[in-house]
Amino acid sequence: MITGLNHVAIAVPDLDRAAAQYRRMGASVSGAQDLPDHGVTVVFVTLPNTKIELLHPLGENSPIAAFLEKNPSGGLHHICLDVDDLAKTAEGVVADGIRVLGDGQPKIGAHGKPVMFLHPKDTQGALLEFEER
Ligand code: CO
Repeated sequence: MITGLNHVAIAVPDLDRAAAQYRRMGASVSGAQDLPDHGVTVVFVTLPNTKIELLHPLGENSPIAAFLEKNPSGGLHHICLDVDDLAKTAEGVVADGIRVLGDGQPKIGAHGKPVMFLHPKDTQGALLEFEER
């Protein structure tokens, strides 16, 4: 079951510049964190009711690199929804004909919690991430 909005992720060509911009707008902005397993460097902008995840490619095979090639000034990349039970949610979406990206198994995401991504072609063109919490 979906229980809330965890974060909205934006791919950015210049992480320092994007982080500084959100700081100037008065938001609480984390330091940059390299996540080599995910091929990204992330900065989190913490808002009272949700977070914004600023994503920048890290390493050779970053999943963000192709996106930034197509969207050189950056762009909305995915939204992440909280779910109470990831395994049960996975069963439900697969039964609904929605493809889960990768090998279909939950991975440990950017916050150390199990996550999975759904194929955007099966979800109205929006890349959805589910995080268990
Ligand atoms: Co995310």
